[in-house]
Amino acid sequence: EKGTYPHYMLKEIDEQPIVMRKIIREYQDENNELKLDKSIRSAMQKADRIYIIAAGTSYHAGLVGKDFIEKLAKIPTEVHVASEFSYNMPLLSEKPLFVFISQSGETADSRAVLVKIKELGHPALTMTNVPGSTLSREADYTLHLHAGPEIAVASTKAYTAQIAVLAILATDTAKAKGLELEFELMKELAIVANAMEVLTDQKEEMERLAREYLATTRNAFFIGRSGDYNVSLEAALKLKEISYIQAEGFAGGELKHGTIALIEDGTPVIALSTHENVNYSIRGNVQEVVARGANALIISMKGLEEDTDDFVLPSVHDLLTPLTSVIPMQLLAYYAALHRDCDVDKPRNLAKSVTVE
Ligand code: F6R
Repeated sequence: EKGTYPHYMLKEIDEQPIVMRKIIREYQDENNELKLDKSIRSAMQKADRIYIIAAGTSYHAGLVGKDFIEKLAKIPTEVHVASEFSYNMPLLSEKPLFVFISQSGETADSRAVLVKIKELGHPALTMTNVPGSTLSREADYTLHLHAGPEIAVASTKAYTAQIAVLAILATDTAKAKGLELEFELMKELAIVANAMEVLTDQKEEMERLAREYLATTRNAFFIGRSGDYNVSLEAALKLKEISYIQAEGFAGGELKHGTIALIEDGTPVIALSTHENVNYSIRGNVQEVVARGANALIISMKGLEEDTDDFVLPSVHDLLTPLTSVIPMQLLAYYAALHRDCDVDKPRNLAKSVTVE
């Protein structure tokens, strides 16, 4: 039930800190150790390469997860759009492990891949919000997202839950392999939960920014580098699907290779800057688009803000910034859709689970 909320989407955006804390509880034992099925731990340890398969927002979560698995667990990882995988099956490694990420667990494109790789005899893990769903039943292992029912068509809390569970999976594997980690994941996720709360409390500001940047525009660009690039893809998808504004996410450095031609007077460009090592370069990209008339907004993180006009996120661990930076993106999309009189929870042409290929 959406209770006093005008839309499920807003309720689900607000639930993200609660979901984060639930995930921390569910994946931790009484000694504060990570709690994961032993068979999953051993499947991860055996794998020489991880193949993440997903669609839409879940694919975007997979891109963030690849960073975790490679940086923490040191296993090479590929992320594939499910509907493309079947045509262009990459050369598989000797001991692949397939990880399906699906909120609903019913996405037909992902299931088609699962059926194919099971025929080849490869192991599969499904990360889903619906244990007992098709993808969960047909895989060897399931990791539960614990996000609670997601009703709005636009996925919000499932995305952050997927990222958190991917971080847990990568960290657990790293520990099982005896790799040194310089941070304690669950403590960092608790900091993230608090930061999420600070952000969900800034609705008025996000409504104002959505009006200023997105109320009447025809198109919008999101730019970022490194982890911020992954979030810019999700930001663009969120805006497109509920506000019908043509939006694209771009790697900051790639703009000059063509896309910058689209920048005109007043074009909104929303730049993410949550990593110290890209802060200087992404601000350079912002200057380039502003010089061509763009209406730019920078979303940065505490310690990295250089401009008093930045929207500043609370500070969280460098690897985990997608969990917080996506929240203003979700709220911008939500308020842009409201300002444009769109049906937020049931955007045109879309269904909550896509059960046809
Ligand atoms: C976007 C959205 C879709 C889904 C995609 C995959 O907000 O909801 O892009 O993420 O259809 O769905 P699942 O995760 O159920 O496999």
